[in-house]
Amino acid sequence: MPAGCILVVDDEERQREIYRDILEGEGYEAATAPSGEAALNLLAGRRFDLVITDLNLTGMSGVQLLGEILSADPTVAVVLITGYPSIQSAIEATKRGVYQYLEKPVDRDRLLEVVGSVFEHLAALKQNILGDSPATKAMVRMILKVAPTQHTVLILGESGTGKELVAREIHRHSPRSGAPFLAVNCAALTETLLESELFGHEKGAFTDAHQQKKGLFERAHHSTLFLDEIGDTSLALQAKILRALQEREIMRVGGTEAIKVDVRIIAATNRNLERLLKEGKFREDLYYRLKVIPIPCPPLRERRGDVEPLARHFLGRSEPAAGRRVEDISPAAIEALRAYDWPGNIRQLEWAIERAIVLGESNRVELRDLPPEILQPAAVASARPAAASPAPAAGLQPIIAEESWEAHEKAKIVEALDRTNWNITRAAQLLGMTFRTLQYRIEKYGLKRA
Ligand SMILES: Nc1ncnc2c1ncn2[C@@H]1O[C@H](COP(=O)(O)OP(=O)(O)OP(=O)(O)O)[C@@H](O)[C@H]1O
Ligand SMILES: [Mg+2]
Repeated sequence: MPAGCILVVDDEERQREIYRDILEGEGYEAATAPSGEAALNLLAGRRFDLVITDLNLTGMSGVQLLGEILSADPTVAVVLITGYPSIQSAIEATKRGVYQYLEKPVDRDRLLEVVGSVFEHLAALKQNILGDSPATKAMVRMILKVAPTQHTVLILGESGTGKELVAREIHRHSPRSGAPFLAVNCAALTETLLESELFGHEKGAFTDAHQQKKGLFERAHHSTLFLDEIGDTSLALQAKILRALQEREIMRVGGTEAIKVDVRIIAATNRNLERLLKEGKFREDLYYRLKVIPIPCPPLRERRGDVEPLARHFLGRSEPAAGRRVEDISPAAIEALRAYDWPGNIRQLEWAIERAIVLGESNRVELRDLPPEILQPAAVASARPAAASPAPAAGLQPIIAEESWEAHEKAKIVEALDRTNWNITRAAQLLGMTFRTLQYRIEKYGLKRA
């Protein structure tokens, strides 16, 4: 299998051939095109992982070609090569989503270094973000493309679709990866606490401010700050976040001095921001500022092809239950897993597999080991008139109690808290959630220690 498919675009034949020889010598599959127009023709017929194009082409320019390629398929990585570097065109190309910008002369080592990094990051991402559905592949390529830039990213998706995973991977594949990734769940803190958490405070700024404290924006200097559940922030705080993004400086609560910060922001939400905008609960200016690069995390029911690889991954990662190693999943169980709608998405699947391992009796996950709501796809489907109801898997047993996902999640959380004697850190580990997500859920469900 070739290491990857690359298209080289240059109007000088000799240059095209040089690049092609270097790439093929390293095991890549390479095709060439003499113009932007010819490149688009080739791209219409087949997929390339990477396009390397000269900036100055006769006819369509490299930047125009970049725009055309990315509007047709935003997942292709594009590298631009130029002999006449201009800051203006570099900015333009970066805005349009160029993967990297190379200055001529590009020698063999430099070319292979850049190409190698594209495919290395791609391979590493595929190890952490599983699934071969087109939706997941598109997500991975999008991460690969935005990671090296400084752009603010907005990750959108339902609960449990992998938003935090995506945010962490963007950081890990960015030039900032040497510094720690910092995260805050905006929904988990009161407005005042969140403000001081984000921006810090001066000594005496409020009653409990016994000492000066640096906020996350300062601590994330030269790193990435993940603003999770940004849709749950107040309008006043949104204004302050916007200011930090625009001015690249912040002021501690109670402070008088602006502090310069170089922070890359990744935000996420499971809320419908457009609706919040209409309801006047989210600032339009912040919304447009954030959504320059949106990355959708599609719900699992829209990428059913990922269900089996994910289920097998969670199975392979699990501890043996009572000395029994569960190594396989029965075809009927796979069928039921694929047919189910997964309101809690990948996290729910992860728990369903864990539960099946504990409850099962053989070394294979059987249909009967799956949670009741999964065995009743018809009930879920009838609640959704638009969706065609999937054929029930063979061998289904009637189950009386219909457990909703929320009830199931709540029960899981209570169980984990009981098991850990309300140690939230350990319970979060058991649940595979971050501390703050669990904190937020405890609040959402109004759970209290008995
Ligand atoms: N493509 C994937 N491959 C492997 N694991 C995944 C994938 N997507 C998500 N996961 C796992 O699913 C779980 C939930 O993901 P994550 O916490 O990132 O979701 P989220 O969208 O942030 O959820 P929430 O809205 O509840 O905060 C995590 O354990 C994560 O590692
Ligand atoms: Mg999350």
